[in-house]
Amino acid sequence: MSTIDVMVNKHYGTGNLLEKIESGLNLAGKNLEQLTVDDLAPVDEFHTRGRESTIEIAEMAKLKATDKVLDVGCGLGGSARHLAEKYNCHVTGIDLTAEYITVGKQLTEKVGLSDKVTLVEGSALALPFKDNSFDVVWTEHAQMNIADKELFYAEISRVLKPGGRLVFHDIFRGSGDAPFYPAPWAEDASLSTLATESEAQAAINKAGLSIDKWIGKVSESAEFFQKVLKRVEANGPPPVGIHLLMGDNARVKLGNYVQNLLEKRVCVSLGIAFKG
Ligand SMILES: C[S@@+](CC[C@H](N)C(=O)[O-])C[C@H]1O[C@@H](n2cnc3c(N)ncnc32)[C@H](O)[C@@H]1O
Repeated sequence: MSTIDVMVNKHYGTGNLLEKIESGLNLAGKNLEQLTVDDLAPVDEFHTRGRESTIEIAEMAKLKATDKVLDVGCGLGGSARHLAEKYNCHVTGIDLTAEYITVGKQLTEKVGLSDKVTLVEGSALALPFKDNSFDVVWTEHAQMNIADKELFYAEISRVLKPGGRLVFHDIFRGSGDAPFYPAPWAEDASLSTLATESEAQAAINKAGLSIDKWIGKVSESAEFFQKVLKRVEANGPPPVGIHLLMGDNARVKLGNYVQNLLEKRVCVSLGIAFKG
């Protein structure tokens, strides 16, 4: 494992994630023997606007049951399970954080989707899949930890079938001053490798993918987390939420993210590109 891979595992790994999620679900009154994909959504969709943005990019991808989908940097596999359940397609997820894959497989088993969702531990920069093997590559909020954007998108393009589509939802460097840390994706600047939107677009194009839609989502993203923070201030954290993945300084991380968005230190966009 490279130094950065170890840092990613340390940043995202907690050591007792399944326990934390199960005790949150218990507190929320969920029956652990009859868990649903929706029960897990507040914690296993670790990206801006949670399920809301997952639905937006899924609609953009126009998924079909016959599609083979790869989620690069899938985390706990929440989006993968949602897609498999809603569209009946097969989804493979790959992620560098060992604990996410271990816990993700257990959660997949618990909701009865192991035949539709395969989670694999590995790096986005060396995808263990054959060329031209997926109809759709999906990626949300993973490349902020990946410095080599050209290799990241080249690997995605390599495993996509001709005509295949990349759907993405990502955080980029904005036009303002340096971002505040800690942020949800990095305790400090050493693990944060944000590209500007034009740098990312150049890497996507260089990989042989043509961008069809690129939609900025800054204001709705800031508003979403402002509301979350207000609710936490009034009522404390909910039993199940992404704060379970962010450690003791979750509130500071989310506050900094909102501030970064408002001050254009970072921006967030989603979209779709096609392999020619
Ligand atoms: C903020 S989480 C997002 C997880 C997931 N996409 C989601 O939306 O719930 C970022 C994820 O990127 C993963 N990641 C970072 N660098 C990676 C790499 N080189 N290869 C694969 N996954 C990586 C991390 O392990 C982490 O799970």
